Amino acid sequence: MHGPDGQHFKEHIMSNVTVIGAQWGDEGKGKIVDWLASRADIVVRFQGGHNAGHTLVVGDQTYKLSLLPSGLVRGKMGVIGNGVVVDPEALLAEIDRVTAQGLEVTPRTLRIAENVPLILPVHGAIDRAREAARGDRKIGTTGRGIGPAYEDKVARRAIRLCDLAEPETLDWKLDELLLHHNTLLAGLGSETFTKDALLAHLNALAPRVLPFMDTVWELLDDSSRAGRKILFEGAQAVMLDVDHGTYPFVTSSNTIAANAATGSGVGPGTVGFVLGIAKAYSTRVGEGPFPSELHDEMGRTLGERGHEFGTVTGRPRRCGWFDAMLVRRAVRVGGVNGLALTKLDVLDGIPELRICTGYELDGEEIRHFPSAPAAQARVKPVYETLEGWSGTTYGARSWADLPAQAIKYVRRIEELVEAPVTLLSTSPERDDTILMRDPFEN
Ligand code: IMP
Repeated sequence: MHGPDGQHFKEHIMSNVTVIGAQWGDEGKGKIVDWLASRADIVVRFQGGHNAGHTLVVGDQTYKLSLLPSGLVRGKMGVIGNGVVVDPEALLAEIDRVTAQGLEVTPRTLRIAENVPLILPVHGAIDRAREAARGDRKIGTTGRGIGPAYEDKVARRAIRLCDLAEPETLDWKLDELLLHHNTLLAGLGSETFTKDALLAHLNALAPRVLPFMDTVWELLDDSSRAGRKILFEGAQAVMLDVDHGTYPFVTSSNTIAANAATGSGVGPGTVGFVLGIAKAYSTRVGEGPFPSELHDEMGRTLGERGHEFGTVTGRPRRCGWFDAMLVRRAVRVGGVNGLALTKLDVLDGIPELRICTGYELDGEEIRHFPSAPAAQARVKPVYETLEGWSGTTYGARSWADLPAQAIKYVRRIEELVEAPVTLLSTSPERDDTILMRDPFEN
């Protein structure tokens, strides 16, 4: 390609992939991201923080990652973009933990954006104090300070990674930050923080964290111009997106694929193929609307069979039938090009399955899940019933290994959500995966 003055611009072909959750999180993104990471050169986190929990099973090792990009397990470079909020203490603890399991996490393999906002102990304290004060109206946050840290970012008082290199900046920034937070903490009857304590905390962590600091936008642009494949690893999911989710029962970042660009400093075209991950049923942790939730024996069965306990908090997850209305919406707002369907084996042997195909509000059919909370609470699901299958899908590695009814179930989901299932995961093992289309070959 040539510019007006005849200058030659190098064209770079995008074959990148962005992975996002299409429900309320915990769809099994960890395994899919790990599987895709083996085909990528760089894996980038672009939102969320250590509220996320990704479990990766590789051989006899189980890695539990919260903040680190999953590609590190495959020896690929991991990047933490500016859209993430980083708790430096949690980061170092996680690095120590996975290093003890044999992974290399050094500035050669991990880079963190210089403009990433930090989570300080005061953020966790505010998060928990506010949740306690909300009583019955609590959001059910992970209590890790995610929301307060994002609030500080948009309020322009965040301490960012680059500030750790400037003690004089830390000094005045902490004054401003504490003026705000101590007022709130005192009002909530919680213990306040001193500047000296926070300074000591940050100064002790700085020498270990600063070596990872980099100009991530430049690194990613140079890498994609050099033809390196980038995998953007989303955390949480579309229904927890701060704009498009079940607000206010959401996390504090944008979880949709568009944020892969903003949250790492690349153009929107770099996001590439968007793979949405969905479980073959639904789960949710924390509070908030969940139209297809099951409060009966079937709900408990799904929870037990699917080992549905939060990776980060250990809380039991709420379980329900697959909600096609919700996933279709996630496909549309999330920009999903293909779906990866996980945990189909959890439905093995259940004689009759249901899929939520519509909603009713006060006896009337409605086209969309409403945005206002009182209406959300009154929504009733409309179900379609499908025959289950008696064989097993566990560990299947090809379409031919699946019972006919299981194939019908998957095909029906494709029709209802208006997106192709391009990948099917049939056990926690990395290789128990059926690939219909390689997302990197788009
Ligand atoms: P926060 O992100 O800690 O502020 O929590 C806000 C909401 O998002 C709560 O309902 C959490 O349970 C939920 N949440 C946060 N991270 C995850 C995740 O990784 N998986 C599932 N739910 C999450």
